[in-house]
Amino acid sequence: MDADRRCDARRNRSRPVSFIVEAAQYDRFMGRYSVPLAPRFADLAAVDPGQRALDVGCGPGSLTGELVRRLGPGAVSAVDPSEPFVDAVRERHPGVSVQQASAEELPFEDRTFDAALAQLVVHFMADAVGGLREMARVTRETGVVAACVWDHAGGRGPLSVFWQAARDLDPTVDDESRLAGAHEGHLGQLFQAAGLREIEESALSVSVEHPTFEEWWEPFTLGVGPAGGHTAGLDAERQARLREGCRELLPAPPFTITALAWAARGHV
Ligand SMILES: C[S@@+](CC[C@H](N)C(=O)[O-])C[C@H]1O[C@@H](n2cnc3c(N)ncnc32)[C@H](O)[C@@H]1O
Repeated sequence: MDADRRCDARRNRSRPVSFIVEAAQYDRFMGRYSVPLAPRFADLAAVDPGQRALDVGCGPGSLTGELVRRLGPGAVSAVDPSEPFVDAVRERHPGVSVQQASAEELPFEDRTFDAALAQLVVHFMADAVGGLREMARVTRETGVVAACVWDHAGGRGPLSVFWQAARDLDPTVDDESRLAGAHEGHLGQLFQAAGLREIEESALSVSVEHPTFEEWWEPFTLGVGPAGGHTAGLDAERQARLREGCRELLPAPPFTITALAWAARGHV
């Protein structure tokens, strides 16, 4: 990896990424993939009854729900910088302690949790190593820190067809592939830089069936995350060209998107 790319991937570039959206919009755009990812990720982190766990960058609660199922609401805490998502998790998961906060400044004492998890978040942290260090700080000695990020660089994430079509129209497009943790082996490097031990890397995969092209496409127009921001920034003609480019790349409906996330876990 060249120096520029390494620099990008530790400290993500500032760009317009919006997660100040309604929970229902997120559910339709990314929740459809992150809900089935959550049990696989919780298994990887070995989340078991009796533990206290922290969901970092909880969004509207895809992983929070899985942690509540395993541990009960009183044993789960969650943070996210997005106010509408914090409100949604409070409403959806009564009894969970939810705060508006970023990974880089977690509002907890040292060694509060048995496990700290960040599902699809490291690539949005302004300082990925700093965020992972904070997750380690609030986790007890020998406890687990775990993270996963879609394989945006390898073209096997759930948004890869979208970004392929966007690159076909504009090769300079910022397609998330250079973000922290988005290519094989990078989460492990970040975990090492954050001082974690006994690091294990793996990949998690989910498959989601889409009944129609419109059901797949329409959530991209809701303005969620970098892909939604990119779509919203196009005029009607370019947006139509992007939509048709995606249609050409996808199989005839119904089709299944199989998405892969790089994952890592380490001990404090
Ligand atoms: C792709 S969503 C993942 C949400 C949820 N974990 C899931 O799996 O559906 C990314 C989330 O990271 C949050 N986020 C962005 N920057 C963050 C940071 N520095 N620290 C913690 N969370 C952050 C966003 O607000 C958003 O909710």
